[in-house]
Amino acid sequence: MPRTPLIAANWKMNTTLAEAKELARNVVGFIADVTGVDKVLCPPFISIGAVAKAAAGTSVMVGAQNMYFEEQGSFTGEVSALMLKDLCRYVILGHSERRSFFRETDEAVARKALVAQVNGIQPIICVGETAHERQSDRAVGVVAAQVRQGISRISFDPGMVVAYEPVWAVGSGLPASPEIANEMCGLIRKELGAKFGSENAEAVRILYGGSVTSKNIGDFVSRRQIDGALVGGASLQAEEFAAIVRNTASAARAV
Ligand code: PGA
Repeated sequence: MPRTPLIAANWKMNTTLAEAKELARNVVGFIADVTGVDKVLCPPFISIGAVAKAAAGTSVMVGAQNMYFEEQGSFTGEVSALMLKDLCRYVILGHSERRSFFRETDEAVARKALVAQVNGIQPIICVGETAHERQSDRAVGVVAAQVRQGISRISFDPGMVVAYEPVWAVGSGLPASPEIANEMCGLIRKELGAKFGSENAEAVRILYGGSVTSKNIGDFVSRRQIDGALVGGASLQAEEFAAIVRNTASAARAV
């Protein structure tokens, strides 16, 4: 079974509520009828309800950018899977910005992934090495360990997603080469196979993320191991994001 490509928009800490509504309306208008690609918008928590409303009844799905690993209780300022499950199909976990600015550990990612899965939310587990780790030949070891630990508590579900996002490519305008991205996504698939079996690993979508644009997306999604993208900066412009989705659909059809 070929894997349906997935393009996820990570709006990060951008957009006011009014801006999010407007962006969502425009994006949904542009991409709702594009077939052959799964589309997910991940706005800030505060705008998830409004974006879900804009996407309701369309092919566009909604995700969150993070969540806590407890379901409820005295955790001031946190948001749980119970709060997200009615609105979100996906949740981004372990993004490099969360790992670096908020000290998120692999163990926290593993716990969050389990709680997401238990509540019917598909985790998008982000992994990726720093520039220093790549330069010192540690990229493979670092990413393999992040994958192993990130998936350590969950069971196999074909809907789960992993995103390879080298830290040096995120927001830098310097994407990884398609060769490196493909090789690292292949490594991730191997790690998934070691836990879930290689046939199951073949069903899981593995995304590339880091300075993806409408111009370079085709080079990524035409590779055997890359099943879509997690898009930051370029997802904040409706037309550019729509072009990424459309170019993914045509690249997938061409394979
Ligand atoms: P970018 O971000 O597309 O702006 O590089 C990607 C991400 O952080 O998911």
